[in-house]
Amino acid sequence: MSAAITTSTFANILYEVKGAIAYITLNRPKVLNALNKSVITELKTAFEATREDSAVRSVIFTGAGDKAFAAGADISEMLNDTPIEAEEKTRLGQALTTLIENLGKPVIAAVNGYALGGGCELAMSCTIRLASETAKFGQPEVKIGIMPGYGGTQRLPRLVGKGRALQLILTGDVIGADEAYRIGLVNEIVPSGSLIARAEAILKQINANAPQGVKFSIEAVNKGLDTSVDEGLLIEASLFALCAATEDKKEGTAAFLGKRAPQFQGR
Ligand code: CAA
Repeated sequence: MSAAITTSTFANILYEVKGAIAYITLNRPKVLNALNKSVITELKTAFEATREDSAVRSVIFTGAGDKAFAAGADISEMLNDTPIEAEEKTRLGQALTTLIENLGKPVIAAVNGYALGGGCELAMSCTIRLASETAKFGQPEVKIGIMPGYGGTQRLPRLVGKGRALQLILTGDVIGADEAYRIGLVNEIVPSGSLIARAEAILKQINANAPQGVKFSIEAVNKGLDTSVDEGLLIEASLFALCAATEDKKEGTAAFLGKRAPQFQGR
C-alpha cells in the first residue's frame, strides 16, 4: 500500500521520498497551514506510509510557504462543532501525535514560521525540533475560548517543565525561536534558508546507525518517561537484550573491532 503513496494521493499535504528520507509538507499556505479534519486524516495516512515503507528511515515534517509550519487547528471549521464533533477531532489529532511520537523512525519538525496551537502540538510530537530564526511558538487556545487539544497539556510540560508550560498555556503568549530554544522547546535555531539542509544533515548521521538501535532508543525514552525510573530501566534492559539478537549488533561490533565502517541491514 505504501508504495502507491505520492503527493497526488493528497489534497492538503505534499509527500515525497528521496533516498532514506520521507518529506511531509503541510500545504495550505494561504491559511497558514491550518489543520482541518482532512489535513489530520491525510497526515495519518502519510505517516503510516512512512512507518510501513522499509526504504524510509526517517521523516522531515515542515510547512509550505515562508510564514507557517501550522497556525493551529482550523478555526473556521471548529466554529460550529458540537461537543461530540470536538471530542472526535481532538481524539483524531491526539492519535496523530501519538503515531508521530512512536513511529519507530526519527521525525524532525522543521519549523519554518508559526507553530501555534495544534501546530506546536504536532511539532512537539516529533523526535527533534529545528526552528528557523523566524519561527514562533505558542498555545494560544485560551484566547479563543478553548484549550490545547492535540496533546499540548501533556507534552509541553514534559519538554519545558510544568511552570513554563502553564505560563505559556494560560497566557497564550507567542514566543520567538530564541525563547523557545532557551526553554528547551526546540533543539536548534537554524538560518531560515538552511532548515531542511540541517535536518538532512542530522538524519544522515542518524540513518548511518543501526535502525533497530535507533527505533528501540526512541521507544525506551518515550515509554520510560511515562513510568518510574525502575520500570523505565526494565524497558531499557529488555530492548537492550533485543538489540543483542540482531545481525546489526554482530556487524556493528565486528566493524568496530575490525576498524571498518559498519554496513547495517536493519535486522
Ligand atoms: N485557522 C483558520 N484560519 C487561519 C488560522 C487558523 N488557525 N490561522 C490563520 N488563518 C488564516 C487567516 O484567517 C487568514 O485568512 P484570510 O486571508 O482568508 O483572512 C490567513 O490565514 C492569514 O492569517 P492572518 O491574516 O491572521 O495572518 P497574520 O500574519 O496577520 O497573523 C497569526 C498570523 C498571528 C498566526 C494569526 O493568523 C493567528 O492568530 N492565527 C490563529 C492562531 C491560533 O489561535 N491557533 C490555535 C488554533 S486552536 C487549536 O489549535 C486547538 C488545538 O489545540 C488543536
